[in-house]
Amino acid sequence: MMCLSSCFTGVVIVLLFSFSSSSLDTPEKFVQCLYNYPHITNPISNVVYTQTNSSYSSVLNVSIQNHRFFNSSSKPQVIVTALHVSHIQATIFCSQRHGLQIRTRSGGHDYEGLSYVAEVPSVIVDLLYLRKITLDIENRSAWVQAGATIGELYYTISQKTKTLGFPAGVCSTVGTGGHFSGGGYGFLMRKYGLASDNIIDAHIIDVNGNLLDRNTMGEDLFWAIRGGGGASFGVIVAWKIKLVPVPPTVTVFNVSRTLEENETDIIQKWQLVANKLDKRIFLRMDLARANSSEHGKQTIQANFVSVFLGGVEEFIPLMRKSFPELGLDKKDCTETSWIGSVVFMNAGFIGSRDLEATEVLVNRTRTRVKNFKGKSDYVSKPIPVDGLRGLWRLLYDDGIEYGQLQFAPYGGIMDEISESQTPFSHRSGYIFHIHYIATWLEEGDETAQRHMNWTRRVYKYMEPYVSKSPRAAYVNYRDLDIGVNNNGYTSYDQASIWGVKYFGSNFRRLVEVKTKVDPHNFFRNEQSIPTLSKEGNYNQETI
Ligand SMILES: Cc1cc2nc3c(=O)[nH]c(=O)nc-3n(C[C@H](O)[C@H](O)[C@H](O)COP(=O)(O)OP(=O)(O)OC[C@H]3O[C@@H](n4cnc5c(N)ncnc54)[C@H](O)[C@@H]3O)c2cc1C
Ligand SMILES: *[C@@H]1O[C@H](CO)[C@@H](O)[C@H](O)[C@H]1NC(C)=O
Ligand SMILES: *[C@@H]1O[C@H](CO)[C@@H](O)[C@H](O)[C@H]1NC(C)=O
Ligand SMILES: *[C@@H]1O[C@H](CO)[C@@H](O)[C@H](O)[C@H]1NC(C)=O
Ligand SMILES: *[C@@H]1O[C@H](CO)[C@@H](O)[C@H](O)[C@H]1NC(C)=O
Ligand SMILES: *[C@@H]1O[C@H](CO)[C@@H](O)[C@H](O)[C@H]1NC(C)=O
Ligand SMILES: *[C@@H]1O[C@H](CO)[C@@H](O)[C@H](O)[C@H]1NC(C)=O
Ligand SMILES: *[C@@H]1O[C@H](CO)[C@@H](O)[C@H](O)[C@H]1NC(C)=O
Ligand SMILES: *[C@@H]1O[C@H](CO)[C@@H](O)[C@H](O)[C@H]1NC(C)=O
Ligand SMILES: *[C@@H]1O[C@H](CO)[C@@H](O)[C@H](O)[C@H]1NC(C)=O
Repeated sequence: MMCLSSCFTGVVIVLLFSFSSSSLDTPEKFVQCLYNYPHITNPISNVVYTQTNSSYSSVLNVSIQNHRFFNSSSKPQVIVTALHVSHIQATIFCSQRHGLQIRTRSGGHDYEGLSYVAEVPSVIVDLLYLRKITLDIENRSAWVQAGATIGELYYTISQKTKTLGFPAGVCSTVGTGGHFSGGGYGFLMRKYGLASDNIIDAHIIDVNGNLLDRNTMGEDLFWAIRGGGGASFGVIVAWKIKLVPVPPTVTVFNVSRTLEENETDIIQKWQLVANKLDKRIFLRMDLARANSSEHGKQTIQANFVSVFLGGVEEFIPLMRKSFPELGLDKKDCTETSWIGSVVFMNAGFIGSRDLEATEVLVNRTRTRVKNFKGKSDYVSKPIPVDGLRGLWRLLYDDGIEYGQLQFAPYGGIMDEISESQTPFSHRSGYIFHIHYIATWLEEGDETAQRHMNWTRRVYKYMEPYVSKSPRAAYVNYRDLDIGVNNNGYTSYDQASIWGVKYFGSNFRRLVEVKTKVDPHNFFRNEQSIPTLSKEGNYNQETI
């Protein structure tokens, strides 16, 4: 017997529940359950899409950010585009009763499509319409509903003030629901840390349908959802965040160097200095194959992309002192506002170069990334020149359309935050983070396999040069290659294979929190945090 109490309405609903009979009923029964759910504030019938509904495909597709999953045969039985907390509560209640797994989707950027692809009968709770942003400029805080994108957040802040910002990711279409719950880094990371380091409260609906805030969820759960991934613990409805000061003028640049331009020396120097630069400088290095200036030849191009929280007159001397090899010149730099720097950093992603046209940031579908596969690594000592040369050979592989490595520097405040402060354990000791990505436009399985194979080859090749035992990885760059759960009970040891890579020694505490707040492991997916006990693992025999 289980008890579902909704603190929103104050009603307690008791339902008889028997695990052994919890097989999937027809989607119709599930939908009927939603319709019968008491105390729904807005009618739920307007937000429920089954596969027979003519709008189902477009509702499903609109937030599929990785087209590799467009053709997936593992589609959810139902989509609920929640407009109200009670819609989520009803979905949690009815999916337990009728044997559906919940996939929560905010921005739909999950690298492995886990927010909308499931091999078991499932329902998407789509938070797309829960995206209100309420700013409190005076107190430098904001409530952000989980369906809002970071582009919407940045834009909304910029409409009210030029001197506050928020340290989250780069690409404007990323959803705050998934992004903040898995960490979230961008160009303010060295000064202010991750998005998850700047969360001060949250609203989450737990497995019993209770709407909880920081006070009522307790510090353990509040800790877990700031880096441990949200999907294992409930449905996050909103975040309260701390806004951070930014100067009215910031400086940006994007300069390229090729092998013919002594790039290797510059890369070597970058590895030595990028994590030691002034905290206000974020200088990322993106590596990819490019056409050489010598006709018909190829080269490796490094794009150095940077944001400095200050004006160009202060920036140039700082760069000349710490990193003269780059040869940065004033004419390479552009002074803009913080929101202008966000547009600048998104240029390649959204295909817009006008730094004043900030409204592009609220376009949820504006992206040039189609199909992709990504992976991640952390590095604690510079990669030697020989290591880089082998990498160039892999980047020259013309069997793939586009392969890129992004090197994001750590240091700054990241060195000052303890490993256990949040579940995100990758802090001091790392000099940079690598993001591997292959993207392609050509359709078909063979093409997809070829590109995925390439990322796996690069990852294997990099093993000697990156962190070991565990080989650290970033949960927001989800990678099912590093290990998955079973379709039933998964032991702590088995889950540790991937869990320790993402969370280091914090994995254990995440499992303990999970065991406490969702003992029957209802909120689950291929890489959800498992429970410690085998007892009562949900839907074990039917999934
Ligand atoms: C093009 C692109 C650019 C990116 N750029 C960056 C970057 O600059 N920095 C960075 O750190 N990361 C970046 N990421 C990674 C990104 O942070 C993660 O993919 C993140 O999880 C996406 O969140 P989402 O809400 O958009 O995705 P979704 O697919 O909706 O969700 C991702 C995961 O979180 C769960 N989840 C989502 N919403 C909720 C919720 N409300 N409650 C509970 N669980 C939830 C989902 O079930 C899923 O498991 C990028 C990804 C892409 C595709
Ligand atoms: C599809 O679902 C929506 C939302 O529940 C509903 O408004 C609409 O009438 C449905 N359309 C069809 C053809 O069933
Ligand atoms: C959604 O994507 C699938 C797979 O590509 C496609 O068959 C379908 O037509 C798309 N639907 C819409 C409405 O775009
Ligand atoms: C700022 O916070 C204080 C204390 O929490 C509160 O009393 C005040 O109303 C807040 N200001 C605004 C503008 O909301
Ligand atoms: C590359 O380095 C060599 C020797 O250090 C130097 O002579 C040459 O000018 C450099 N080339 C460029 C393009 O910086
Ligand atoms: C590189 O050159 C090839 C052929 O010369 C051309 O097809 C391709 O578009 C070029 N790539 C870029 C990025 O300019
Ligand atoms: C930097 O400039 C190069 C072209 O020189 C471009 O291909 C790349 O997308 C730019 N990078 C960013 C992050 O805008
Ligand atoms: C968002 O961007 C896409 C792609 O550039 C474009 O087709 C669409 O019209 C834009 N939507 C809005 C609302 O501007
Ligand atoms: C989806 O499937 C269709 C039909 O099998 C195929 O033509 C198309 O290339 C596939 N799309 C993708 C993105 O793989
Ligand atoms: C991908 O790699 C697998 C395993 O190494 C191999 O069997 C397969 O042929 C490769 N596929 C492609 C398209 O490269």
